Amino acid sequence: MEMKRFLTCVAVPAFLCSQAAAVEIAPDAVKIDEMKVSQSLTGATGNAEEGAKVLANRGLGNCLACHVVTPLAKEQFHGNVAPALDGVADRWSEAELRAIVVDAKRVFSEETVMPAFYSLEVGINVRKDLAGKTILTAQQVEDVVAYLTTLKGSK
Ligand code: HEC
Repeated sequence: MEMKRFLTCVAVPAFLCSQAAAVEIAPDAVKIDEMKVSQSLTGATGNAEEGAKVLANRGLGNCLACHVVTPLAKEQFHGNVAPALDGVADRWSEAELRAIVVDAKRVFSEETVMPAFYSLEVGINVRKDLAGKTILTAQQVEDVVAYLTTLKGSK
């Protein structure tokens, strides 16, 4: 395993090698181009299982307050003010899903009720203790994106 990692590292440019040490992309440095954020915010692929937990967590994503997600049906509290996320990976690429989670307002419109999860501009009524923070961390965004990319076909 270590050997394999070493070999990968000598074969690719150094900046791809330092994954573990990679600096996160800060919220105000994320570029959304044509509705896409192509680069992982952490420099690595997220963990879909952790992402599912973020979706269901009311203090974090709270995605289920607005979205139905059939594979998470055992979690209560499914809202339907927004499209069901079933099959969402057939409709959007990974880069587009990342952009939607980072800042739906910059993808859909300023009017969307969907919060900007990785933006410092979350709204005007920001609690003092939340000022300067994003709703989700870069890692949580990547975990959510990893989970969303599993939602294909009838899922
Ligand atoms: C307050 C309600 C709300 C919350 C919370 C919310 N969304 Fe949304 N979301 C929407 C709405 C509404 C849309 C449709 C776009 C629009 O018209 O504004 C949408 C669209 C989307 C889309 C595109 C769906 C499609 O099929 O086109 C994705 C993906 C998505 N949301 C993911 C998430 C994730 C992941 C979370 C949690 C981290 C989340 N949303 C939390 C309201 C919400």
